[in-house]
Amino acid sequence: MSKPPFYVTTPIYYVNAEPHLGTAYTTIAADAVARYRRMTGHDVRFLTGLDEHGQKIAQAAEEHGVSPQEWVDSIAPTFTSAWEMLGITYDDFIRTTEDRHKRGVQAFWQKLHDDGHLYQGNYEGWYCVPDETYWTEDQLEEPGVCPQCGREVKFIREDNWFFKLSEFQQPLLDFYAANPEFVQPETRRNEVVSFVQGGLKDLSISRTTFSWGVPIPFAEGHVTYVWIDALLNYITALGYGSDDPADQERFARYWPADIHFVGKDIIRFHCVIWPAMLMAAGIEPPKSVFAHGFLLTKGEKMSKSKGNAQTPASLVERFGVDAYRYYFLRDVSFGHDGSISIEGMVQRYNGDLANDWGNLCSRLFNMTEKYLDGAAPAAPDLTAEADDDATMRAIAGKLPETYEDHMRRLDYSAALESAWELIKFANRYIENSAPWTLAKEGDTVRLAAVLYNALEAVRISALFTAPVMPNTSAEVWRRLGLGDITAVTDVCAAAEWGGLPEGSRVTKGDALFPRMYDEV
Ligand code: MSP
Repeated sequence: MSKPPFYVTTPIYYVNAEPHLGTAYTTIAADAVARYRRMTGHDVRFLTGLDEHGQKIAQAAEEHGVSPQEWVDSIAPTFTSAWEMLGITYDDFIRTTEDRHKRGVQAFWQKLHDDGHLYQGNYEGWYCVPDETYWTEDQLEEPGVCPQCGREVKFIREDNWFFKLSEFQQPLLDFYAANPEFVQPETRRNEVVSFVQGGLKDLSISRTTFSWGVPIPFAEGHVTYVWIDALLNYITALGYGSDDPADQERFARYWPADIHFVGKDIIRFHCVIWPAMLMAAGIEPPKSVFAHGFLLTKGEKMSKSKGNAQTPASLVERFGVDAYRYYFLRDVSFGHDGSISIEGMVQRYNGDLANDWGNLCSRLFNMTEKYLDGAAPAAPDLTAEADDDATMRAIAGKLPETYEDHMRRLDYSAALESAWELIKFANRYIENSAPWTLAKEGDTVRLAAVLYNALEAVRISALFTAPVMPNTSAEVWRRLGLGDITAVTDVCAAAEWGGLPEGSRVTKGDALFPRMYDEV
């Protein structure tokens, strides 16, 4: 049976600065889904990349005394190496300065022009360069200040090309009504619908006062407005606009996207402008856009300009990559703003990872070495099973479905909690069954049964923590003498009770999450 396609994307990030905790957050969330969907047998295509055009990037280059191309080429590797450090398994990385992208953008313009969706006009209004966003006079809450980021807006007057966005008000409303899953979570959907109900203005889609962008094919001196340029990455990366049959096949296979991950600040671009652009070009809109909240430190949005940003590298160095990924997805409820702190990270690390997960693995692997010479016992006779055994089997048995349910809603916290139910029970199970006493008493049958059951709980827990903590899960499977966990493509079958083969070599190894004593 051929695998169902699953296309997931992150926003493409501005290269005015290096990656930070906010951009890493979106990327880790998308990666966890991509990894999980590979485990559920999907043919995943995971795209991320860089937004390299526009005034903001041109300005950053100028400030550094280099050409825009030199600037973007110097920043791009900081992203690819940060994603490597964080274990991001993207299948494609697009940069908007690539030819494949420019070609697609130009094909898109030609199509919209030919079909009468564009016209020439004059734009007069305000522009926020850091957000690359147009604002009308009445949208400004305070004169001269961007209502979104609070930075200075500039008055611009230009001859521009316009996209007839206003004509898509009703089609968009109909689309939202027919596709209730399109904007997520629910609160964001209401925000988008009421914005569109308020009426849409045509959108200026070209700029003439600078040249760092994709030239509009039929309009000399005009380059593409950077947001339009950026949104198109989701289709140009698949091959939109190319005559090559391989590109066309890829586009047909993966489009429409299953999930576009975005931050809540860029939802209008993705849920209003983007589907309208696609409708105009006769392309189906994506299946869903999920907007997550902001990471806050001491109540403020964390950003480089506010100077309150820790770097991903500094945290990975201190906590390790898996604990980093775990903290952000477990502690911040996805879709809401969430406060993050080093104190919170240490607490999660020591509590959930060192005490619960790490400790469970260590003591169990140790006991298997000590009492059974490191060989996994045979699966015990179920007819002789104790109440605790049955309870643990039941918890493990419902985990695949519960986990799937949470992951479908991108509720990472709840998904991880469901895995933790098994981990915590397994710890209690060991306490209650006291294998050390069984060993002392020479009850080898019960000892083998208890260790087998606990090892099974660990094997299954590793499957469901793998999307978020891939390195630890791979290591746990190695220590259980099992194969490569990333090769699992049917997580439900793999999670069936009794999968640990008799005689599998179990090794103890070092602590997976050594406890941290420097609390802050
Ligand atoms: N280039 C545009 C996206 C174009 S997509 C077609 C852009 N880039 S960005 O680099 O500024 O931001 C990318 C993402 O990072 C956004 O989704 C934004 O919400 C997210 N974050 C930036 N700071 C953040 C936090 N403090 N917290 C969580 N995410 C935030 O916008």
